Parts: sequence; C-alpha cells; structure tokens
Amino acid sequence: MKKFLSLVAFGAMAFAYQNCAMCHNGGMAIKLDKLTPAQIEAKLKEFKAGKGNPMMVNIAKSMSDKEIAEAAKKYGKK
Ligand code: HEC
Repeated sequence: MKKFLSLVAFGAMAFAYQNCAMCHNGGMAIKLDKLTPAQIEAKLKEFKAGKGNPMMVNIAKSMSDKEIAEAAKKYGKK
C-alpha cells in the first residue's frame, strides 16, 4: 500500500497539475467545483507551504503561483 501511494505521488508530481480531475472527479478526493477559485488558490498555497495532505503538498510544490491561479480558475466553481 505504501509503495502504491508513493507511485501515485510520483506520477502526480510529474503531470498532476493538468490532471487535478484525475483524483478530484472520482471518489478519492472532493470535487473541486464545490470550491471557488479563491478557495482553491488559498488551499494550494497552504499545501505549497507544506501544510496538509502530503500528496497535495508534493503537487503544489511543483506548481508556480501562475499555475496555481490557472488551475484554480479552471477547476473552481463556474
Ligand atoms: C494524486 C491525486 C491528486 C491530484 C492529481 C490532485 N489532488 Fe488535490 N487532493 C488529493 C487528496 C487525496 C486530497 C485530500 C483529501 C480531500 O481533501 O478530499 C486533496 C485535497 C485538495 C484540496 C483541499 C480540499 C479541501 O477542501 O480541503 C484542494 C483545493 C485540492 N486538492 C486541489 C487540487 C488541484 C487544484 C489539483 C491540480 C493542480 C489537485 N488537487 C490534484 C489528491 C489529488
């Protein structure tokens, strides 16, 4: 299980930020369109600072502030 999780985390780092829906559309994590873009952006910045779910911390650390803003707009509540 641990091995599986690190594989997922590794894959996530490489291409995650275009694929938020990969985890956030199914049962694994909350649907991102329940949050406003501002909420997503704030959360991602917390993750980037190292707080919260380690999977998301890895993803957020691989994103620039611009990518965070773009992803928040793309996946947030319309
Ligand atoms: C590898 C799977 C995976 C990917 C890819 C992923 N996430 Fe997550 N995300 C999670 C998990 C697991 C949690 C923590 C569980 C939860 O809050 O539902 C989480 C939590 C979050 C939260 C916090 C939700 C809350 O209300 O606490 C936000 C916001 C978020 N992710 C945004 C994103 C964005 C934006 C992307 C794309 C850049 C992304 N995630 C990609 C797995 C993933």
